[in-house]
Amino acid sequence: MLNKKIQDALNKQINYELYSAYLYLSMSAYFEDLNLAGFANWMRDHFQEETMHAMKIFDYINQRGGHVELSEIAKPDHTWKSAQDVFTNTLKHEQFITSLINGLVNLAREEKDHATESFLQWYVNEQVEEEATVNDILQQLKLIKDNTGALLMLDKELKTTINAQTTTQ
Ligand code: FEO
Repeated sequence: MLNKKIQDALNKQINYELYSAYLYLSMSAYFEDLNLAGFANWMRDHFQEETMHAMKIFDYINQRGGHVELSEIAKPDHTWKSAQDVFTNTLKHEQFITSLINGLVNLAREEKDHATESFLQWYVNEQVEEEATVNDILQQLKLIKDNTGALLMLDKELKTTINAQTTTQ
């Protein structure tokens, strides 16, 4: 059985993960407007990943005999200055999520909930990967600056990466 403190914190995290999904879907729409199909697909793929992150917690709460309580999802931004601006914000957002996961691990330790601490390790590792992937694209965008040709090439590359991931899953 989950204690109330842990249950409340995990329910909050479901909301943050669903907000992340919503934010990336909004970013996908922004890239669709710019006709950058590769970036749009990348964001759509991350929308699905974040939904999966939320559902893993949803299932875990139920598995531990807890109660899932969903709350309102905040409205995400819908416009940005550029692709670089989108990825700067994405990195900031992922760093914020990492800080929340670390907070959850600390809470699980304080409450001596070893099962939850172990469950959260998956998220600790996932955040390392997410931050690295986003930062990699951000660094490329910084090099690209206003070079439209290079931006279109990266867009094409992102589309291929997503297609390759989809066919190997
Ligand atoms: Fe679920 Fe990208 O953090």
